[in-house]
Amino acid sequence: MIQLAIFEDYQTLSRQAAIYIADRIKQKPNTILGLATGSTPLGLYEELVSLHKAKKVNFSEVVTFNLDEYASLPKEHPQSYYYFMQQHLFSKVNIQLHNIHFPEGMFHDANHACQLYEQQLLENGPIDLQILGIGSNGHIGFNEPADRMTLQTHITDLADRTIVDNARFFNDETEVPRKAITMGIGSIMKAKTILLLANNETKTAALNALFSGVIDPNIPASILQLHENVLVFVNSDVAKHLKYRPTALMNK
Ligand code: F6R
Repeated sequence: MIQLAIFEDYQTLSRQAAIYIADRIKQKPNTILGLATGSTPLGLYEELVSLHKAKKVNFSEVVTFNLDEYASLPKEHPQSYYYFMQQHLFSKVNIQLHNIHFPEGMFHDANHACQLYEQQLLENGPIDLQILGIGSNGHIGFNEPADRMTLQTHITDLADRTIVDNARFFNDETEVPRKAITMGIGSIMKAKTILLLANNETKTAALNALFSGVIDPNIPASILQLHENVLVFVNSDVAKHLKYRPTALMNK
């Protein structure tokens, strides 16, 4: 079931998402969190850091699994997703290094890197709460539009649209890695709860696929319609463009 919550603006959306996560961690201190990178969760991580500083959330037992990593970018590269997480969350809260899990982008043996992450997910999982952004092409993690969906961790070619969308983080488009390692659709779907955030109007078409009643591998996020517990948080600018009209409005 997909529940849609609409918030006045990005800051409110981010704060409410952080409060929701903090509550879940309070209920289960060793919560397994699936984490996303990109522009969308920046506000969320900022709010989580504030809550941590105010002693309202304790990460000492929290276990994390990130969705994806660019292939061939070392951890210390400013555009690697590991670097992003260090910069925006991990270095600012009391998470323990050994509880952080990332797919290996600097792999020599692709199969081994994928199997290793699957094994870690299997040993620790399922994920309690998976945070997702959504690509303008409907990707989740780096599960890109295709004629079929892959359940397990895999190496993927980034879609042309993703390369264009993500070029804003690099000096130019040619610098964007062409491949990535990503958690598969299977691990995402096994998460007990999914919290998907969207605050940009470029995501509207992809978001509409969440309420279409059709599963389309060319819009991978459409698979979320089969999940029991998906929360979608959007801001009012995005909500304006959604075909779906929710019954319950949240506007804290
Ligand atoms: C990143 C990830 C991607 C992003 C998506 C949206 O870890 O998994 O699916 O969530 O590309 O990116 P932004 O938030 O930058 O628009």
